[in-house]
Amino acid sequence: MVQEDFSRDIVTLTEFVIRNQKDFPYAKGDLTRLLGDIAVAAKIVTREVRKAGLVNILGEFGTTNIQGESQKKLDVYANEQFIAAMKHGGVVAGVASEENDNVVVFEDRDCAESNYVVCIDPLDGSSNIDVNVSIGTIFSVYRTITQKGPCTMQDFLQPGTEQVAAGYIIYGSSTMLVYTTGHGVNGFTLDPSIGVFCLSHPDLKTPEKGQIYSVNEGNFNYFSKDIQEYIHYCQGTANDFGKSYSCRYIGSLVADFHRNLIKGGIYMYPSTEADPKGKLRLLYECNPLAFIVEQAGGKASTGFERIMEIKPEKLHQRVPYFVGSIRMVEKAEELLRHSLSK
Ligand code: AHG
Ligand code: MN
Ligand code: MN
Repeated sequence: MVQEDFSRDIVTLTEFVIRNQKDFPYAKGDLTRLLGDIAVAAKIVTREVRKAGLVNILGEFGTTNIQGESQKKLDVYANEQFIAAMKHGGVVAGVASEENDNVVVFEDRDCAESNYVVCIDPLDGSSNIDVNVSIGTIFSVYRTITQKGPCTMQDFLQPGTEQVAAGYIIYGSSTMLVYTTGHGVNGFTLDPSIGVFCLSHPDLKTPEKGQIYSVNEGNFNYFSKDIQEYIHYCQGTANDFGKSYSCRYIGSLVADFHRNLIKGGIYMYPSTEADPKGKLRLLYECNPLAFIVEQAGGKASTGFERIMEIKPEKLHQRVPYFVGSIRMVEKAEELLRHSLSK
């Protein structure tokens, strides 16, 4: 008998998640389902993003979210798509979203009895939507603590160390989905010809150090002296490479993070005089990317403490954020601590 060769050179996201269910000790099928639902919503958002400019999806929606930020049409659309996907999937008990004042609790039986809650930034990089620059989605999955009935606030206010999965989608020159369940980081690129996410970046590791720093330098005068000192360090030559780092700042956290994850670098959104807690949100921006970066060998810190060990006090809590290559984040922490001890 002729032995046929059934091998092929792609591994789909679905195949990969099922194959790695062993990494996920409880309710195995549920996480597979959840990641599948997120992937479908990501494809729907990709479809709209790719048509932006041709259809009526650019511009303001005409409302503001609880944080006083004006909502774009795509913010609202992405929020609806991701929440709908999770509600229909039936394996999520509730969602905390940047775009909603309060948590969305799914009360029908399937959902209420499910084991997971999700925190999500449905559309990250809103200011870049209208100008054809990369945007993203960030998500974080926790196991519910509430034993009976619908989920409650305590399920969402867990430290990042309790995340069971986290990921992001980047709508860039291609659409990618990158996720971790605490066993390394894997990246999948959407093949538009078949509409399937395919493994393209297996076991992603971030360089220990890089030559990129990412910060909104327009805020320089509002940063503390020690942050200014760290930026001067980045601009100087007293580093391992003997030359200044390059400054790269897109203004979409997902895109800046993704580039630095691959190339090596540090992203920072420090506190300013006006915003002592910085700008970025702990639950649906900082924690998920912290989980991913740590799994890739990097670090995420407020400058003084590990992001994932912060016990959240409220849903839309903000924290100063330093994330990226481990040696670079450590250097920033060193300067901040040094100035504290002066
Ligand atoms: P979002 O669009 O979800 O509100 O997030 C915007 C965030 C983040 O993506 C980005 O890095 C940062 O805001 C940019 O802020 P500045 O314009 O203040 O630099
Ligand atoms: Mn965001
Ligand atoms: Mn957003």
